[in-house]
Amino acid sequence: PIRDVYAREILDSRGNPTIEVEILAGEKTVGCASVPSGASTGKYEAIELRDGEARYMGKGVEHAADHVNAQIAPEIVGMNVLDQRGLDEVLKRLDGSRNKGKLGANAILGVSMAAARTAAKISERPLYTYLGGVQARTLPVPMMNIMNGGRHADNTIDIQEFMILPVGAPDFREGVRMCAEIYQSLKALLGQRGCNTAVGDEGGFAPDLPDAKEALSMLMDACKMAGYQPGKDMLFALDVAASELYDEKLNAYVFDGESRMHGQKVLRTTDQMIAYYEELLAEFPIYSIEDPLDEEDWEGWVKMTAHLGENVYLVGDDLFVTNTERLKKGIELGAANAILVKINQIGTLSEAFDAVEMAHRAGWQAIISHRSGETVDTMIADIAVAFNTGLIKSGAPCRSERVEKYNRLMRIEEMLGKTADFPCYMDTPVLK
Ligand code: PGA
Ligand code: ZN
Repeated sequence: PIRDVYAREILDSRGNPTIEVEILAGEKTVGCASVPSGASTGKYEAIELRDGEARYMGKGVEHAADHVNAQIAPEIVGMNVLDQRGLDEVLKRLDGSRNKGKLGANAILGVSMAAARTAAKISERPLYTYLGGVQARTLPVPMMNIMNGGRHADNTIDIQEFMILPVGAPDFREGVRMCAEIYQSLKALLGQRGCNTAVGDEGGFAPDLPDAKEALSMLMDACKMAGYQPGKDMLFALDVAASELYDEKLNAYVFDGESRMHGQKVLRTTDQMIAYYEELLAEFPIYSIEDPLDEEDWEGWVKMTAHLGENVYLVGDDLFVTNTERLKKGIELGAANAILVKINQIGTLSEAFDAVEMAHRAGWQAIISHRSGETVDTMIADIAVAFNTGLIKSGAPCRSERVEKYNRLMRIEEMLGKTADFPCYMDTPVLK
């Protein structure tokens, strides 16, 4: 049984406060976990509770920590820490609101995560088998975000993320090597072309490039420079985070950086966005496009999925916010064909698992993801293996809070030994 629960305020990778929770169970088993935080957050995410007081510019999480210590702890002390679902249900019920705004999704998730870690320790099993059972043996293909823009940097690239997927790798470790080599090649290339090589929030480079095509061309060049063939060894993925570009009054997407670099205002309507993506798909080997349109534009998503869904994965992040109600709607409407799963968007591990399961049953891809504000907690690595998603997004092979997830996966691959599996996406529609 759980004997003690304690939350404290710590810092995340952007220097903002976040919650860390420790749970003591059994004789003296302690599991500890910390919660990530987004910047380009979706409107429908569960509520991350911030103090709003003077300290830390309003971003303190002392109230959320108090909620764990004063309200959640007394209710779950004595409960079986191995009953993850039961615990998550109690957490949901204690909050009682639709969006976990009362206790805070950050408070709730910290407890949900710490419970899993304590339980795995008590069971003397690695976290990925505790959560996923003996079938948990598939390593995810890493989607490494090596060029940052949008809200994650202050450069002129409007699209938030440019990712590379080592689909030609025989195993996870080799995939990491390929990505890291391309990352270093990209750095050299940027240097040669007189571009800045400072990095953004997720460790990718954040140069001032004229537009997305230029960024993708740089990725192509970096791949070749490292000795890999784009479209064969490597595929690309974008996260447009289009809700951040959408202007309601203009009913169009505003590309501020592109406007500045081209010296004229660049706006794209929904139809123009879809046509633009079609152009990019024709020119570059793109596996997936995340949040290509605004989080409210169900109609546009349906149109885009009907038009391009056979050729590319269209990933709903802000659209679905890891919420099975919204995902169900998307599946019924045919809006998107993949979901991004962020545990802090929904607030408990059980609900994140339900979202993955619902997606898989519909024949969709699910991608486990970090947030732009992270800690060194590596739980999402274990979750990707446990939930059998075959894909993970954890930023660039740079900055310890990003790299630690990939390092954890290399260790997991080693533990699994010969039973480890690494999926092959060579048959994805884009390659046919
Ligand atoms: P966020 O960005 O964590 O800032 O929301 C990540 C993403 O949009 O995928
Ligand atoms: Zn996203």
